[in-house]
Amino acid sequence: MPDLRFSDTISGSVRNGVLVVTIDNPPVNATSADVRAGLMAALDRAEVDATVQAIALTGAGNTFVGGADIKEFGKPPVEPTLPQVIERIEAFRKAAVAAINGAALGGGCELTLACHHRIALSSAKIGLPEVKLGIVPGAGATQRLPRLTGTPAAIELISSARLVGAGEARSLGIVDAVVDADVVGAAAEVAKGLVGKPLRRTGALTVPDAPADTLEKAAADAARKAKGQRAPLEAIRLVRLAATAPLAEGLAEERRTFLELRDSDEAAALRHVFFAERAAGKVDGLETVKARKVDVIGIVGTGLMGSGIAVAALNGGYRVIGVEQTQDAADKGRERISGLLDKAVQTGRLDAAGRDGRLQRLTVTSDASELAAADLVIEAVFDDLVVKTELFQRLDNIVRPDAILATNTSYLDPNAIAAATAHPERVVGLHFFSPAHIMRLVEVVNCAKSAPDVLVTALAVAKKLGKLPVVCGVTEGFIGNRIFSAYRREAEFMLEDGALPHEIDAALEAYGFPMGLFAVYDMAGLEIAWAKRKRQAATRDPAARYVDIADRLCEAGRFGQKAGKGWYVYPNGKRSVDPDVTALIEQVRAEKDIEPRHFNADEITARLLKAMSDEGEALLAEGVAARPGDIDLVMINGYGFPSHRGGPMFAAGRR
Ligand code: 3HC
Repeated sequence: MPDLRFSDTISGSVRNGVLVVTIDNPPVNATSADVRAGLMAALDRAEVDATVQAIALTGAGNTFVGGADIKEFGKPPVEPTLPQVIERIEAFRKAAVAAINGAALGGGCELTLACHHRIALSSAKIGLPEVKLGIVPGAGATQRLPRLTGTPAAIELISSARLVGAGEARSLGIVDAVVDADVVGAAAEVAKGLVGKPLRRTGALTVPDAPADTLEKAAADAARKAKGQRAPLEAIRLVRLAATAPLAEGLAEERRTFLELRDSDEAAALRHVFFAERAAGKVDGLETVKARKVDVIGIVGTGLMGSGIAVAALNGGYRVIGVEQTQDAADKGRERISGLLDKAVQTGRLDAAGRDGRLQRLTVTSDASELAAADLVIEAVFDDLVVKTELFQRLDNIVRPDAILATNTSYLDPNAIAAATAHPERVVGLHFFSPAHIMRLVEVVNCAKSAPDVLVTALAVAKKLGKLPVVCGVTEGFIGNRIFSAYRREAEFMLEDGALPHEIDAALEAYGFPMGLFAVYDMAGLEIAWAKRKRQAATRDPAARYVDIADRLCEAGRFGQKAGKGWYVYPNGKRSVDPDVTALIEQVRAEKDIEPRHFNADEITARLLKAMSDEGEALLAEGVAARPGDIDLVMINGYGFPSHRGGPMFAAGRR
């Protein structure tokens, strides 16, 4: 039991001459002002108490320290700062050993780097995710990590924000030992053994030499992956500085850069995304509702979408029953799923044992009655109302009364599908994005009659699949496709008004989208949207502005990249401006008596942002989306909106 208290969040107990200091600041032991003050008080005590010969530092619960307290960013700094605490630990006269009992991230990792020895529990994860928040580490990691790992590895780790397990941390030299249990006992023992010995202070080490070409390659690879974001580039610069500048100079430059980036628009946007992700999937009023137990997931349809969902479900640890109409289709479905798993093995994302374990949990059959064993059935069949309602009516008679039915429809009305069943309260929407085993986003559609525990279960399952679930009400196209339609409409208005496809795409790409809108269209193919427009033509408001350029492209067989031409032309596969498309757009303008005018990149992005955020406001007003942050997450994770801009709602608010 702890017998010393240094602050609300820091306690200590002396065991055999070692002061074990425990950080207990739920939920993730972030280094808040109270933690920092408590750590200083513990060091004060250890310094003067002759019965304390060494210290061991650990976290309460499953986390060591999740990092600096992000909620404090943007507020006036309170001393002692984390660098002050860390420098004091490193310089401490008595040995300090880190007992890494769980995630040691950001400032948490930096605390361990200042210790004279690090022992990790084998399940612990270690890393510096700061660049994901638009900042660089601010408490010494850019200077201390390369002293342990060498410059190339430190560049890769910090600029990618990649977390490593304890085993890899050991082989990289970040930790000194890994244990399977009692990490605090092991750390106390090591600490005791260090008494009277010279201490290994990380900051005093020399950065190991690296061959120039390895170094340049690591820096170039990391810079390429930064995709225009500033923080990873600054991280590379700072890590390289560690090899050439004295520690104090490197630390000062790191701190200056950290403070500057912390106050940047990019960091504010990424913090917004961080908190939006934590809020997504929480539904007001349902906090106490318990999820149903789900062990077995049935998936009807094992085509492109269904097989991706199956892989995600297998990755989530579920037993999966895939169902097809014929044995031949079932065999093909199984092949598709195992093919995706094989690919994961080939690319190193999965080992062979992991693949075999997953395949053992998979059945693909033409016998739908096997779905009687399923706790949740997800349909991924052809997006047609008759097909889906008939399927759900059949499932009604097969699955258990407490089983949940989820539709993966993109455009149909899930309320209509639910209404066709005997138990609409067990129907929910799970709108996956393709490829479903890769894309993180899932829109969880709360249908008019979905029972609260059905919604909560759908959210819990999506999280277990490693997905980012965003709750959304029923509307045509849900959150993402509604906003995307508004965005596309506005882009096409601008075409008629004077902008050209490549100008709009260039503005979007400069803003941070991986690909402009028209280039995406060409990649995806124009024919599906064309078919949909033709279906809707009869019900379209004749008074509403309608741009028919895309229809004319389709009429001319310009279906996109597959056809070698669409909004662009693709000689030798290279996207190029096509004078024929420019001529067509000019002809449309002339027919409508539109005098074209020039749009600069800023105006293009401003108009598109406004179209998206106006539609987002409408979704909020209709109660389809609960929070602006949910809309931002959908656009970032489903439609390529740059995360460092925070999403359309956040970005529009900043303007
Ligand atoms: N500061 C403040 N709050 C934090 C936090 C942090 N660093 N990390 C997590 N939280 C909060 C979350 O907002 C959430 O709050 P809520 O319950 O009110 O929604 C709660 O802790 C639990 O978080 P998760 O839902 O993410 O819990 P998990 O158990 O799934 O994951 C985690 C835990 C792995 C620690 C994960 O939260 C995480 O990755 N956190 C962020 C880590 C990070 O980015 N650290 C770097 C911070 S910057 C820094 O350290 C600067 C330094 O160099 C000076």
